[in-house]
Amino acid sequence: MRSIDTLGDLRGKRVLVRSDFNVPLKDGVITDDGRIRAALPTLEKLVQAGAKVVVMAHLGRPKGTVDPAFSLAPVAQRLGELIDAPVTLAGDTVGDSAKETVAALEEGQIALLENVRFDARETSKVDEEREELARAYAELGDAFVSDGFGVVHRKQASVYDIAKLVPSAAGLLVVNEIESLRKATEEPERPYAVVLGGSKVSDKLGVIANLLKKADMLFIGGGMVFTFLAAQGHSVGKSLLEEDQIDTVKAYIDEAKERGVDLVLPTDVVVAPEFAANAPSTVVSVDAIPADQMGLDIGPESQKLFADKLATAKTVAWNGPMGVFEFEAFAAGTAAVAKALSDGSMFSVIGGGDSAAAVRTLGFDESTFSHISTGGGASLELLEGKVLPGIAVLED
Ligand code: 3PG
Repeated sequence: MRSIDTLGDLRGKRVLVRSDFNVPLKDGVITDDGRIRAALPTLEKLVQAGAKVVVMAHLGRPKGTVDPAFSLAPVAQRLGELIDAPVTLAGDTVGDSAKETVAALEEGQIALLENVRFDARETSKVDEEREELARAYAELGDAFVSDGFGVVHRKQASVYDIAKLVPSAAGLLVVNEIESLRKATEEPERPYAVVLGGSKVSDKLGVIANLLKKADMLFIGGGMVFTFLAAQGHSVGKSLLEEDQIDTVKAYIDEAKERGVDLVLPTDVVVAPEFAANAPSTVVSVDAIPADQMGLDIGPESQKLFADKLATAKTVAWNGPMGVFEFEAFAAGTAAVAKALSDGSMFSVIGGGDSAAAVRTLGFDESTFSHISTGGGASLELLEGKVLPGIAVLED
């Protein structure tokens, strides 16, 4: 991948930067600014180089129309606070306001264009439409730095098409993410363990299929585990279940056996009658889930099993929480996996917005993990072994 240094002297040049500022908001307030913090090293480097920095980003999925609820205004303010310099937010993406804002930039100053997804061409499946928008971006910049790791799996105008129109390079975040994730997926030091959680098994089919060929141990937790337990013949009560995936999961269980992959499933689960923070919880064996209860976390015996086995791994990739960690009563499973990785000396990579958020919410020291990815879908696609368009376009 081409690095920023390949772009040469950037003093006085207008540098377009694609960042991933798709942060969670509650009542207009940012609840986790991790992605904005992760963007700072690249922005600071460009500022120090004397570039005129023009940041492009999306927030949510506003479906190609201007929707104030998805304005980047809270992001511009937070970015300004973190970088300790004013960040001007343009009133549009490539219109008059964007042009005026960029024209007014001095060396070392930063502007943020309004949500790129306010323009339907950004995410269009029609190449010509995306290319037309990318040409408008190219009017605003002399070079392009791709630093929004969370979106590099998207073939979109501000991620992919723009990179073909002006000299382009990967930012520091993208380089760091790709190096860490490749280390944890291509030729990992063994034993190589992968922990998968989250609610839907159907979101992880490609990942499981790819990892059964690579991993020595595959741990399953979260809502998706109940389809595995059902495939083994257990009754799962009111737990999340994707019945149409049972046969696929059965085939995975067989494949794991054939390949000698240690497929580690919970032996006990924490159940409750309903999905609520204060629902009364009980621990039951996986072969005794009551018909009127739902599983919301892996149980204490499973937490110990997972932690003990994970401690023997040299490389661990983790994507997806083990339970409903947002509710204290169902957070212990996710915390047990986080603790095993935090305490261990293995190379540990945490991918996926939810597991990264869990680690922060549960109060773990982020520096005790080898890498916490800012990408959800992007890190999952890397685990799947897919080629990401926003990365491929930066390769020589
Ligand atoms: C993310 O939140 O994973 C990225 O910002 C990508 O967002 P998207 O799934 O809406 O493309």
